[in-house]
Amino acid sequence: MTQSTTPRREVAWAQIDAAAHALGGTTLNELFAAEPGRVGAMGVEACGLYADFSKQRVDAASLDALFALADAADLPSWIARLFAGEPINHTEGRAVLHPALRAPREADFAALGEPVMGDVHEVLDRVAAFTTRVRDGDWLGHTGQRITDVVNIGIGGSDLGPRMVCEALVAGEQPLQVHFVSNVDATEITRVCAGLDAATTLFIVTSKSFGTAETLANAATAKAWLLGKLGDDADVAKHFVAVSTNHAAVADFGIDTDNMFGFWDWVGGRYSLWSAVGLSIALAVGMDSFRDLLAGAHAMDEHFQTAPLRENLPVWLGLIGIWNTNALGLPSQVIVPYAQALARLPAYLQQLEMESTGKGVTRGGAPVPRQTIVSLWGDIGTNGQHAFFQMLHQGPQALPVDFILPKKLGHDVDHQHRMLVANCLAQSEALMCGKTAEQVREELTAKGLAGDALEAAIPHRVFTGNRPSTTIVLPTVDANTLGSLIALYEHKVFVQSVLWDINAFDQWGVELGKQLATVIDAELSGGEAQAHDASTTALIAKMAS
Ligand code: F6P
Repeated sequence: MTQSTTPRREVAWAQIDAAAHALGGTTLNELFAAEPGRVGAMGVEACGLYADFSKQRVDAASLDALFALADAADLPSWIARLFAGEPINHTEGRAVLHPALRAPREADFAALGEPVMGDVHEVLDRVAAFTTRVRDGDWLGHTGQRITDVVNIGIGGSDLGPRMVCEALVAGEQPLQVHFVSNVDATEITRVCAGLDAATTLFIVTSKSFGTAETLANAATAKAWLLGKLGDDADVAKHFVAVSTNHAAVADFGIDTDNMFGFWDWVGGRYSLWSAVGLSIALAVGMDSFRDLLAGAHAMDEHFQTAPLRENLPVWLGLIGIWNTNALGLPSQVIVPYAQALARLPAYLQQLEMESTGKGVTRGGAPVPRQTIVSLWGDIGTNGQHAFFQMLHQGPQALPVDFILPKKLGHDVDHQHRMLVANCLAQSEALMCGKTAEQVREELTAKGLAGDALEAAIPHRVFTGNRPSTTIVLPTVDANTLGSLIALYEHKVFVQSVLWDINAFDQWGVELGKQLATVIDAELSGGEAQAHDASTTALIAKMAS
């Protein structure tokens, strides 16, 4: 019997359904009216982050049912298994130990029983030493000039995390400009290289497998560009380093493995920014900031590991997501950071969440009996307000929003920050409270509208309200806080995977497209035609003509 069919877990799911049924059409406004202590009871704090869940459509019975499900799914013991380095990524027989990457030297993590902290800090120390050499101008290019620009070539987890963090944290004058190239569309690498001087550019080829087609293609193009400019094979050693777990492939590419920074199979790609994959972050913002990022994540790890479930922020975030998806049937999750620095957070979370929990079978291989992840999307406030918020306010379906709101930002234009905060708070208020036909009638009448014109105008201006959101308040967007925020979402994903009884750490779903692309690529380059469906065959012919 698979775990998802154990009676205890199914009884808990039935309680969730019953709680949802009992909640029925009770609105958020009614919940607030009935529960004077609601805000206090539904505010959860950890590592300086404060999350207000009171604008979610849950009542006490919903929460009881959710925490009962966490209990029935043995969430505490799964958390313990994660931190104990057990092979919880069972389809690949691997431990999942990203918390070890941000733990202090004296911690004693082990993956499948093998201690890892020595290796982790050995690599971290090499990253630190290399970062200092490059940032201080002691690492020279082939012509003897100091490095001014760094290009990280990688995709997925080897791009999204470092790119997002760099965009969030780079501020003020820095000795290095860090660029990112991920897309196999060579427009990106061509544009980036066009602005660079080969003699002062360092490429980091970042790929856990060192077998990802897009990354290898971009790395080869970068190498050809560099050789074209500097013209000597010996140049590669001074201008290319690698971050990978695949020693042999790095050497095959022509990168000196002395300039390779390793990591391990127990680090998932989308959980890897804390490893040497974060080299671009360290180069961009300095090692001290990178260590602050790690420390912020470590603080959230400790909270997740030790806080009782009812006070545990990642547990709350995960359970509320489960409620919105499985009890209320809401079809997507929107992420809106009110911070320019966090512009790439939604894209980063798309991989973290959808590659992790976008699964259709349980750990035991049976079809999942209920919805798992819903689509996740978003953009920064206030820009999103002028794009998709119309749908959030008046579209036919409520979509839950996570508002991420820093109290302070790294500038002193106070009145604009005040406007930003006001906008964020106004959006969550509007989504929840709405505006009734009566209120609209009053407003329009005061403006002199009457009769048929008034009646025709009213429905268009009504806001149903009752649309749920969570607001996560950050003290600011610095390295430490960002580390905690990212780790919060990582653990949220883990919580949900346990409750849905799925493996959050494999990604077989990306393989089929890769295989077929290889076949089609061969055909497009003149190889023998292969059997495809009629549509694909016609499109191949169109693209080849
Ligand atoms: O898209 C699939 C994937 O395997 C991701 O999980 C991973 O982050 C990305 O490709 C890049 O992989 P690699 O770091 O091995 O190049």
